[in-house]
Amino acid sequence: MLQGKHIILGITGGIAAYKSVQILRLLRKAGAEVQVVITPAGKEFITPVTLSSLSGKPVISEFFTANTGVWNSHVDLGLWADAMVIAPATASSLAKMANGVADNMLITTYLSAKCQVFAAPAMDLDMYSHPSTQRNLRTLEQDGVILIEPADGYLASGLVGKGRMEEPEQIVKVLAEHMATPRDLEGKKILITAGPTHENIDPVRFIGNYSSGKMGYSLAARCAERGAEVWLVSGPVSRTTPAGNVHRIDVTSAREMHDACVELFPGMDAAIMCAAVADYAPAECADSKIKRESTGEITLRLVPNPDIAAKLGTMKREGQKLIGFALETNNEHAHAIDKLRRKNLDFIVLNSLRNPKAGFGVDTNQVTIISADGEEHDFPAKDKNIVATDIIDVTL
Ligand code: C5P
Repeated sequence: MLQGKHIILGITGGIAAYKSVQILRLLRKAGAEVQVVITPAGKEFITPVTLSSLSGKPVISEFFTANTGVWNSHVDLGLWADAMVIAPATASSLAKMANGVADNMLITTYLSAKCQVFAAPAMDLDMYSHPSTQRNLRTLEQDGVILIEPADGYLASGLVGKGRMEEPEQIVKVLAEHMATPRDLEGKKILITAGPTHENIDPVRFIGNYSSGKMGYSLAARCAERGAEVWLVSGPVSRTTPAGNVHRIDVTSAREMHDACVELFPGMDAAIMCAAVADYAPAECADSKIKRESTGEITLRLVPNPDIAAKLGTMKREGQKLIGFALETNNEHAHAIDKLRRKNLDFIVLNSLRNPKAGFGVDTNQVTIISADGEEHDFPAKDKNIVATDIIDVTL
């Protein structure tokens, strides 16, 4: 996957810079062309001579090459690259990247890069866990940088903890896998619902469910990686918006989710209804907090919520795809097929709550995908990120 690819390897000033040599060797071995860009501090840890010998190219560090006065164009470099990987990425460089502080050739190149950027943080555990570093990492994630998380282990300081740069083999593997991702959803617009809904009883209480939003967010991330433009209509969850072309619309209740989906669906190529929408909402929401002292025993009257998937099923036009989920506890198969027909879906993804590896809150899911024309695909239990890829491969 890396054969003939143009990779910028950014090296910053951390002890782990010695491992960058191995990253460079592995990239070259895989057939990539590598341009090393190093920060001034990086040169204190590893010599440009080693790096230029292994890459077969002069190492870039300054805006101008001192003896010739040749200007190193960060813009050209940014256009040349198919991917940029900054490893190690120190706390200082991450902070500069997050804030656009372009005071060296590496950060300037990062700001000009049109390609996917990866960063492998490396620092002491306290620096890594500091709120400032964590804030910068979240910013970078939102800016679309793929972070290759540091591992737990022995650190140069003698301490043990999280902050040790991921191993070169793993970094190169992440890069290769990304390069292997097809861009087969380019130009497609996809609506995805995710998470639970909250139905208010009064200003401080609601009826909700255990959905974590993980499956829907994984689907949104994978669709975006494959080139789709995604509208993620999300119930209340604490998750960061996936990188890439993802428009997130936050809603609270089923009614709000319904209204957002009905408005968006006509412009979509497909909709994946992954949210665990509450089936009922309180008939009325009290204006002020309900007090036990003044009410005594109360009965909540619940009214059915609109079925969003079924509504989109009535709106569906030629060429649009509608995918629903069924989370069942018994008679799974029959219920799923009934839902598929009733809601006019093209596919239904069935997962059973009887399987401990499927359902709310767990990282894995085990699904069967049933199509409207009766075809069935059974999958073993897998990480939700991989399940998302299976769902996309079968349905989109
Ligand atoms: O009928 P049931 O709630 O089991 O159907 C599940 C499927 O329908 C899921 O895809 C879910 O997102 C969708 N749904 C919906 N609106 C509702 C209830 C469910 O879109 N009110």
